[in-house]
Amino acid sequence: QTGKFTFDPGFTSTASCESALTFIDGDEGILLHRGYNIEQLSEQSSFMEVSYLLLNGELPSKAELDDFSYTISRHTMLHEQLATFYKGFRRDAHPMAIMCGVVGALSAFYHDSTDIADPEHRKISSHRLIAKMPTIAAMAYKYSIGQPFLYPDNDLSYTGNFLRMTFGVPAENYEVNPVIERAMDRIFILHADHEQNASTSTVRLAGSSGANPFACIAAGIACLWGPAHGGANEAALNMLREIGTPDRIPHYIERAKDKNDPFRLMGFGHRVYKNYDPRATVMRKTVREIMAELKVNDPVFEVALQLEEMALNDPYFIEKKLFPNVDFYSGIILSAIGFPTEMFTVLFALSRTVGWVAQWNEMISDPAQKIGRPRQLYTGPTARDYVPLTAR
Ligand code: SDX
Repeated sequence: QTGKFTFDPGFTSTASCESALTFIDGDEGILLHRGYNIEQLSEQSSFMEVSYLLLNGELPSKAELDDFSYTISRHTMLHEQLATFYKGFRRDAHPMAIMCGVVGALSAFYHDSTDIADPEHRKISSHRLIAKMPTIAAMAYKYSIGQPFLYPDNDLSYTGNFLRMTFGVPAENYEVNPVIERAMDRIFILHADHEQNASTSTVRLAGSSGANPFACIAAGIACLWGPAHGGANEAALNMLREIGTPDRIPHYIERAKDKNDPFRLMGFGHRVYKNYDPRATVMRKTVREIMAELKVNDPVFEVALQLEEMALNDPYFIEKKLFPNVDFYSGIILSAIGFPTEMFTVLFALSRTVGWVAQWNEMISDPAQKIGRPRQLYTGPTARDYVPLTAR
């Protein structure tokens, strides 16, 4: 009758579900996708290859990768009526609001109830979504700056196509910078999937009722937007800019430790990692590469490095096992490439769509799958009789 609310997604085991996609050892800081560690994948693989791995369970052969990339490239365009959908948003609408709305609207364009029963068709529609996310994301950015949309160019790579649709203009030829393309592709790999995080659990729970896949992914996008989750990349860079100079770091570290202050170090801490997030290590290395290539020196990087150093040597952070996570450095790279902070979580959602789709496919392929039904510990009043209004 008493006690705290406990969230049980309604699955039979104490874990929320069984999955073969991603393994995390939070104490050791290990992240594997189908058995391959994120360090090797981010250094040696491509986002299309990792997408294939997550969706199919094995690294593809050259022919399989070419075929997968070809299929994806043939679904990158949006229905023209959807392009007009953007015009209903205010120009200053947050791109995550636009992405959430447009992806949800896809459920009105690419699905009817008869398909729901056909898992294979639901899988095809999910690949279609992976193809359209770069177009949807780029269009959200273009709309926010009042520039015309660019159609996809299927001669470019998945990531190169996204960069061109985002930063290209009809009046000029756009040359994809291979160093930026590689860094962006690596960032997509680092964000592709992460076990049963809040947004993935949202997609699974929504999808467990047999709902339209696009509507389920829109629910995941909404959840990812929160600053405690994917929205932390935008919040982390805004925090680093607010700190501004290394001499102001101690003040913010003390604020983060003050229980009466709602401020937290954005990009720090994690529900699962009680060690360094292996993705943050790759991110920090990529910052150096991008700054060298673009010959930029954003002072916020020095603030981030010194903040990390001070926090990791602070007894509070040591005791609470708080380390930088995937969101701590990512914004510095994205800002150097030219993205505004409002686009950071959109890029996270673009990449995480692969994980959401793979997790969703895994769930609908399980013949024993049941609808999720979270339970609770009830803490309200015990049973009592109604009191008529005249007696109250
Ligand atoms: C992502 O789940 C995933 O896998 C998510 C993700 C993915 O790929 O999908 O990895 C992506 O969402 C990464 C997290 C991004 N969020 C942020 O960077 C926001 C800042 N961090 C936090 O708000 C926080 O760390 C959470 C929300 C991520 C986790 O919060 P919890 O559940 O409170 O973490 P915890 O239980 O480990 O906290 C232990 C203690 C708590 O204090 P006490 O209650 O023990 O006194 O550490 C404190 C927390 O209050 N704490 C922090 C802190 N994070 C936790 N104190 C200051 N600054 C922080 N950042």
